[in-house]
Amino acid sequence: MPEIVVQGLTKTFIHKTTGQKVTAIERLDFEIGEGEIVGIVGKTGCGKSTFLSILLGVERPTEGRVLVDGKEPYRDFYYFKGKISAIFQQDLLLPWRTAIENVKLGLEILNYPKEKQIDISKAWLAKVGLEKFLNSYPGELSGGMRQRVAIARAFAINPEIILADEAFGHLDVVTATTLREDFNRLVREQKKTAVIVTHQLDEAVDMVDRVLVFGRPARLVADLQVPNGAKQSISEKKEFVERLHNLIENSG
Ligand SMILES: Nc1ncnc2c1ncn2[C@@H]1O[C@H](COP(=O)(O)OP(=O)(O)OP(=O)(O)O)[C@@H](O)[C@H]1O
Ligand SMILES: [Mg+2]
Repeated sequence: MPEIVVQGLTKTFIHKTTGQKVTAIERLDFEIGEGEIVGIVGKTGCGKSTFLSILLGVERPTEGRVLVDGKEPYRDFYYFKGKISAIFQQDLLLPWRTAIENVKLGLEILNYPKEKQIDISKAWLAKVGLEKFLNSYPGELSGGMRQRVAIARAFAINPEIILADEAFGHLDVVTATTLREDFNRLVREQKKTAVIVTHQLDEAVDMVDRVLVFGRPARLVADLQVPNGAKQSISEKKEFVERLHNLIENSG
């Protein structure tokens, strides 16, 4: 059985000031299997973040449904405690907690024994290269280092699914590239199911095995496996990125 099932998903909002109906997602259908690493691309405002919010159980579908392990995230939210982690463009660290205290947060909420909280958090900070910064506060760390703490925090609870929404786009190119590589390595090493939203098409090709192209409002325009060649050859990568670019441009 697929881990994530999206059936006839539609989401509309009522605009706060104009009172008009905004359609963010319109009859979206697809499935994601356990352990798949999937990218979502599409024009700005096409409903990518809204889709992640529904997957996280923060927003509720207007019509249709999203099932994870056969359950609806906004309805069965207690079942999903600790099962889905997300990283965003902002690291969302608590400024008054040190790096290790930020990573511990989820483990505290999940009632891990105190010693385990520390051991797991230390190990994760080491995995993201921050073993020397356990006791630093977010304000003492660079943007890339803070995002590393956020990544450690996301993995520390050992979730089934990891979501990333434009998590690397705002960093300088060198920092973003190493972070992407590290994140990619960890997702694969830990055998997580991952859904990665990005504007950067070359990032999608590097990080994921399958790309969903959303139209605006979100509906499935294309569902493509990333060809192996595109990961190895610069010219094949360029060709695939060009194909994605054209699909997005012509998606309305
Ligand atoms: N809470 C809300 N109330 C009203 N409209 C909303 C709300 N959240 C999203 N929308 C609208 O839904 C549409 C999809 O927004 P969403 O943020 O999901 O797009 P996105 O694909 O993530 O965009 P971007 O690439 O810029 O991050 C937009 O038209 C947006 O204005
Ligand atoms: Mg977004």
